Amino acid sequence: MKNSKHSTKLWGGRFQKRTSSLVENFTQSLDYDRYLYLQDIAGSVAHARMLASCGVISTQESSAIIDGLGKIRQEIEDDEFKWSVEFEDVHMNIEKRLTELIGPVGQKLHTGRSRNDQVALDFRMFVAESLASWQKEISSLIHVLVHQASSNLSTILPGYTHLQPAQPVSLAHHLLAYVQMFKRDYERTDDALKRVRISPLGAAALAGTTYPLDQEMTAREVGFDSVYENSMDAVSDRDFVMESLFVSCMIMTHLSRLAEEIIIWSNPGFGFIKLPEAYSTGSSIMPQKKNPDAAELIRGKTGSVLGRLMSLMVTMKALPLTYNRDMQEDKGPFIEAHNTVLGCLQVMAGMVRELGFDAQAMVAALKRGYLNATEMADYLVSKGETFRQAHHIAGKAVAYAENRGAGLEELSIEELKSFSDKISKDIFDCLDYQQAVNRRNFPGGTGPDSVAGQIKRIEDWLNKVQFSP
Ligand code: ARG
Repeated sequence: MKNSKHSTKLWGGRFQKRTSSLVENFTQSLDYDRYLYLQDIAGSVAHARMLASCGVISTQESSAIIDGLGKIRQEIEDDEFKWSVEFEDVHMNIEKRLTELIGPVGQKLHTGRSRNDQVALDFRMFVAESLASWQKEISSLIHVLVHQASSNLSTILPGYTHLQPAQPVSLAHHLLAYVQMFKRDYERTDDALKRVRISPLGAAALAGTTYPLDQEMTAREVGFDSVYENSMDAVSDRDFVMESLFVSCMIMTHLSRLAEEIIIWSNPGFGFIKLPEAYSTGSSIMPQKKNPDAAELIRGKTGSVLGRLMSLMVTMKALPLTYNRDMQEDKGPFIEAHNTVLGCLQVMAGMVRELGFDAQAMVAALKRGYLNATEMADYLVSKGETFRQAHHIAGKAVAYAENRGAGLEELSIEELKSFSDKISKDIFDCLDYQQAVNRRNFPGGTGPDSVAGQIKRIEDWLNKVQFSP
C-alpha cells in the first residue's frame, strides 16, 4: 500500500514511490541527531542571517525564518515537537516544521546549503560544546585532587613499581601525579578544539555553491574561529570527531588508573583509604562488604569509550571522498562517549573529595616493605662505598632483618655495623621514612618544598584557565 503512494520527502522530486518503512527506520538518524537540535537551529539562524546580509533572501524572509526557528526550539523544549522518522533526521524534521509554521518562505532556508555541510557544522558545534564541558569537569577534578594534596602534605606512603613496595613518597606527591595527567588532558582538549571550531558552511554538498555567500559571517555567527579551506574536505572530514574521541579515551585511561588505585587502596590488605559510603555499595549476601563499585565502573566504562574510538576509526577507514552515509555512524559513538566521560569525571571528583586517608596504615605498609633499603645504600655511598657494593650490603641487611621479622631501622647499631664498618649511628636518620621523603626536594621530587612548588604552580594555572571552579 505504502509503496504505491508518491514520495513525501523533501528530496522526493525524482521519486515515484514511497520509501519502504523498513528503509525509513533503517536510515533515520533521529535516535542520536535529535540531541543536536540546538546546534541545528543556531546554525540555521546564522545561515538565514547571512543569506539576508548577502541579498540572497530578503530581511523580512530571514526574520520570518528566524522567528519560526525560535518557535520550533520552544516546541522541542516543551516536548511538543512531533519527531517523524519519515523525515529522516533532525535537519529535515526542523525544516519541514518550519514550512508548516511560516509557509513557503521556510523553503528558502536551505538555499546555498546541503545537509552535508549542515550536519558537519551542527556536529562541530556539538563536539565543541562537549569538549568545553569536559574541560570544566577536568578542572573541578584537578581542584579536588589539589585540595586533597594540600590537606595531606605530611602523609607518607609506599610508592610502588611493579605494584611492589619501592620507596617512600608523600601522599600529596602521589595525588599530584594525577593532577599532571588531567592537566595534559585539559590542554589536549584545548588543542583539539582548534581543529573542531572551523565552519564547513558554504561547502554545500561537496563543491561549494554559486550563491554569493559570506562564509566568514556564518562562522562568526556561530562563534567559530575560521572557515574551511577545501569544500570537499569540509564535508568529509570527521577527524575532529575521532580526535575528540581519542581525547576522551585518554581522559578515561587516566581515570581508570586512579580508579584502580582507589580499588587497591580500599582493599583491607592495604587499608590506605576509607571509601566514602556514598560512593560504595554493599553485597546482597555478604553483610561485611563495602565494594568500590563506582571506581570499578569508571574502570569498566573505559573499555566502552575505547571501543567507540575504534568503531568510528573503522567506519572512516578507506571511505572515498566526499560525504558517505556511513558517516552518519559518527554521532552514536561520540554522544555515548561524551555522556560517559562527563559522568565519570563528575563521579571521580565527588569520590576523591570524600576520600578519607589512613596515614597509620600507610606508615605500617612502609615498615613492612623495607622501603628504606635504597636509603641505606645511598648512605653507604656517601661514606665512600661504590653503589654496587652498597646495594649488595643493603640487600644482605634486608635479608637479615626479614629473618628477624624486623625493619632495617629496628636493628641495633651493632647488628647494622656487622654489614659494613662504614656504618655509624647517623644511619638511623637516613633510615627514617619521613627523612627519606624530606631529602628529595629537587624540582619534581617528593620532598615538601618540591610538592609545595607543584601545588603553587597548578593553583596559578587553575586560576588562569577559563573554567577554574
Ligand atoms: N543524517 C545524516 C548524517 O548524520 C545527515 C546528512 C545526510 N546527507 C545526505 N546527503 N544524505 O550524516
